[in-house]
Amino acid sequence: MDYLQLQGQTPLHGNIPISGAKNASLPLIAMTLLSKTPVHIGNVPEVVDIKTLLKLLQHLGAACSFEDHRITIDTCCLTDTKATYDIVKTMRASILVLGPLLTRFGHCEVSLPGGCAIGQRPIDLHLKALEKMGATITIKSGYVVAEAPDGLVGAAIVFDKITVTGTANIIMAAALARGTTTITNAAREPEVVQLCNVLRQSGIVIEGVGSAYLSIHGTDRALLEMVPFHVIPDRIEAGTYLCAAAITNSTLTLTGVCPAHLETVIAKLEEMGFYCDIGERTITIHPAETIKPVTITTQEYPGFPTDMQAQFMALCTQASGTSTIEERLFENRFMHVSELQRLGADIKLSGHIATITGPTKLSGTDVMATDLRASSALVLAALVAEGETDIHRIYHLDRGYEKLEEKLQTLGAHIKRLKE
Ligand code: UD1
Repeated sequence: MDYLQLQGQTPLHGNIPISGAKNASLPLIAMTLLSKTPVHIGNVPEVVDIKTLLKLLQHLGAACSFEDHRITIDTCCLTDTKATYDIVKTMRASILVLGPLLTRFGHCEVSLPGGCAIGQRPIDLHLKALEKMGATITIKSGYVVAEAPDGLVGAAIVFDKITVTGTANIIMAAALARGTTTITNAAREPEVVQLCNVLRQSGIVIEGVGSAYLSIHGTDRALLEMVPFHVIPDRIEAGTYLCAAAITNSTLTLTGVCPAHLETVIAKLEEMGFYCDIGERTITIHPAETIKPVTITTQEYPGFPTDMQAQFMALCTQASGTSTIEERLFENRFMHVSELQRLGADIKLSGHIATITGPTKLSGTDVMATDLRASSALVLAALVAEGETDIHRIYHLDRGYEKLEEKLQTLGAHIKRLKE
């Protein structure tokens, strides 16, 4: 197993190109199940989660190629509609094939994803919505068995809670359904917006894109023809590098980024005393004179992203004063707290609220990555810690950050990947 070794307290400098968004690529790859012709997608990040979803599609009989951030997927000759446990258990987002498979073939089986480090993460809202569209759903031997032999029918879906992959699943299901589907309380994340936009370019009429109320007009199982497209930049990777610059109080320029997707993150950094110079596709962050404490509550987009919570917690250890971070989306997304404490952070947890007092001098030691974003928080903390930090179980990082250590090395960080 690989681990990362960092020598902290080196300032960063330079430019950092931002990769395509993992969380946009995943639904877009699942969406290729709706196409009658091969689909070409550019700017896809070369990370493990993408390879996992491609493997799943290949198991179903799709032909896939992935080279130099370009993917071609041909799902015309699918032979199977069962997404098996061995793949789904390694990536919860595999559930994204449920809507497209069911709406195209009228039946499918998708393994239940099982437990997750950051909370229970049920899929009840996905299933309830598909049932409303006419599917019969049973759970058999750990699998969601979904049937809609005559196809899905448009329906009025009201999500009790905002769900990102739930919204994506229902949009894709609705694209080939008979009639119109409306979604109330839809997720408004840029990744959902891109899915809608690509479907629109493929001829699907969708109203309300970017709002919490969507209306999707289905094709009654007529497959789509998709034009080639590029994945949007990864706002979470971008936010993580902004935090890397902030925690080391360095000047850094992000390129190939979409600043509009990072408004809340930039606003919090500016509140903390950093200055961000915003270009059309660049963000340059400048050091703060004093890093000020901050209050953060995670929310659905356009609120502060839960996927940036752990990184800001690492940053708050260097702020002068007491910061609070409230996690509203996931019940157990504080696994990084005990690892940050091992590095010397002063963090108190009370239910969903973490109180961080700084500035603290962190010192390097062995820490363990627990989930994707928690892992990046440990990398950030290690960048300012005195001495050497070894971060174990970095397979979590490899799921979502493309060439993290190489990118940090080009910025001057002392980081290397080693074998246990
Ligand atoms: C997506 C992102 C993830 C991000 C999260 C929240 C992808 C691949 N992953 O995850 O990085 O952290 O959004 O922004 O895009 N819920 C239910 N029932 C359901 C579905 C969700 O109760 O059927 C709850 C979840 O437990 C959670 C909340 O709704 O508390 C939001 O989850 P959701 O938006 O579905 O997260 P994901 O789509 O899995």
